[in-house]
Amino acid sequence: MEPSASRTVATPQVDRKFHVLVGVTGSVAALKLPLLVSKLLDVPGMWKCRSDPVLHIELRRWADLMLVAPLDANTLGKVASGICDNLLTCVIRAWDRNKPLLFCPAMNTAMWEHPVTAQQVGQLKAFGYTEVPCVAKKLVCGDQGLGAMAEVETIVDKVKEVLSHHCGIQQS
Ligand SMILES: Cc1cc2nc3c(=O)[nH]c(=O)nc-3n(C[C@H](O)[C@H](O)[C@H](O)COP(=O)(O)O)c2cc1C
Repeated sequence: MEPSASRTVATPQVDRKFHVLVGVTGSVAALKLPLLVSKLLDVPGMWKCRSDPVLHIELRRWADLMLVAPLDANTLGKVASGICDNLLTCVIRAWDRNKPLLFCPAMNTAMWEHPVTAQQVGQLKAFGYTEVPCVAKKLVCGDQGLGAMAEVETIVDKVKEVLSHHCGIQQS
């Protein structure tokens, strides 16, 4: 069904449910997704239903906030240059930049240290998106260094902070 042209974007109210759209890319840090989603569902006011995939325009209307966690090197590069060849990158490309978009880079240290990474992260920040910086630790591949996705608690705290700022939800 075609989206209705007359539909308006609702102004978030304190007493309604909030929609957080979580985008996931092919980083090993995707292993943390169950924990991340379960913690996000504990955020007061968070919508708890799941639905079948729908068009990227429906999703960008539905969501109050978009979180891309983890954001791998491949999708970082695509988003920085505007490529939209799958549902996730189409939602990001269609994203209403008046709504918050948070991204959590996660990649091997060698990939993180490639000079193109800083350029691409800078481009996403220039689009108005919020970086939740990666951290240094022993990575799943055995290497030690920067590139691990931020801790789940850090990500959830940032989501709560941004929702509180943009949508007026209370932090618990
Ligand atoms: C086991 C495994 C772990 C991976 N972990 C990462 C990672 O942490 N960060 C990253 O940038 N790419 C990682 N990759 C490579 C990406 O999966 C690859 O670039 C893929 O094309 C990304 O596609 P997507 O961005 O559409 O999800 C990993 C690949 C494999 C097989």
